[in-house]
Amino acid sequence: MMDKARRKEILKRGRPSGKWDGEPMVGGWYTEEEVEAVVKAVRDSMDWQVGFGFYCEEMLEFERKFAEYCGTADAVSITSAGAGLDMAMMALDLEPGDEVISPAINFYAGHYSIIGQGGKLVFCEVDPKTFCADPADVEKRITPRTRAILPTHMNGLSADMDALLEIAERHPHSKHGPLKVIGDVARACGAGYKDTKVGKKGWMNVFSFHTMKLMTTLGEGGMITTDDPQLARRLRAIRMWGGDTEEYWGGNYKMTKIQAAVGLVQLRRLDEMLSLRHERAVQRTELLKDVSELTLPSEPPGYWHAYYLYTILVAPEWAGEKRDRLMKMLLDDYGVGSAVLNPPTYQARAFVRTHTRGQNLPLAEELGQRLFCPFLHPLMSEEDNEYVAAAIIETVERIVDEG
Ligand SMILES: Cc1ncc(COP(=O)(O)O)c(C=O)c1O
Repeated sequence: MMDKARRKEILKRGRPSGKWDGEPMVGGWYTEEEVEAVVKAVRDSMDWQVGFGFYCEEMLEFERKFAEYCGTADAVSITSAGAGLDMAMMALDLEPGDEVISPAINFYAGHYSIIGQGGKLVFCEVDPKTFCADPADVEKRITPRTRAILPTHMNGLSADMDALLEIAERHPHSKHGPLKVIGDVARACGAGYKDTKVGKKGWMNVFSFHTMKLMTTLGEGGMITTDDPQLARRLRAIRMWGGDTEEYWGGNYKMTKIQAAVGLVQLRRLDEMLSLRHERAVQRTELLKDVSELTLPSEPPGYWHAYYLYTILVAPEWAGEKRDRLMKMLLDDYGVGSAVLNPPTYQARAFVRTHTRGQNLPLAEELGQRLFCPFLHPLMSEEDNEYVAAAIIETVERIVDEG
């Protein structure tokens, strides 16, 4: 924690790098290595008799290396996590009335996929310490129609996969057996859970390489990891026109050779990018830990937080109006951007509400009014981070003084 004099000094000094253009929606981190990989991939494809090919070596190598990183038997590269979540729901072969349980506090991609594939979306609450699915609440919502649980490894922290898998085993579907646990790992690539990387546990896990994500393949891209060979075959069939057999429907969800070439470089650099992000987050927590009006993100024992976002909760009595005021003051008076990621999806998207009428989650709604995420990036300097922390403390004190 910094004392008042130090805080004033930091604020007077100003923010060393100024406000970032896209803040709080900042992009990835590229180096000359990625540029060289792009150039090489294009050069290698200049032979008109070769072109880019269908399954190029870069793509196969990226899949092999990604599976190795996550410790899974297989990895299937795709165009985006949104596409991967659609593919996950396709692989479930949902029948009308089949239910999939997923946290209301979420990005809505997975919820669109459930509804889009004809399933019934059933919301659950999150654990307010982790913002990930609360296993006890998930269990309460299981019915004979439940087919799957779709937790999101929210904001960089793994969901409690062991607890969810144990519940899934204990409540098998009468026709399909144990419930499938599918992880949305768009925001947690490289995070740790017990002695594994996120992406290992569960039937499958879906990653995003969108521009804002922890690693990125030129703005879009994704990967699905799994240990189930039959599922991997099915996913490859969906990815490209039914695959080798004519048994399944398929479309085209393949990433490009250039994306895969860049993905290989980003994967090599992932741990370095994550460790800097982690360092900044830990430093921020140290600076803010005595602010009693704020609950800071936690990293429970056995978890390694990738800190895609630094999620703060304001005190319950500051929910809504005061939280909004805090965010506005941070931006207007100190140039510090933050975002609410995320309120319950049924409040964020009318389409989700239309398909989930009558499902209202009190805790999710409360958290949606209390959370905010001041931006964090591995390229932010220690001084930048100090400035953000000083601005947060100063703003909280001003709001307290206002009464
Ligand atoms: C939790 C979560 N799931 C899925 C997605 C969708 O990812 P993509 O942009 O790769 O489709 C996002 C992207 O913002 C996300 O944050």
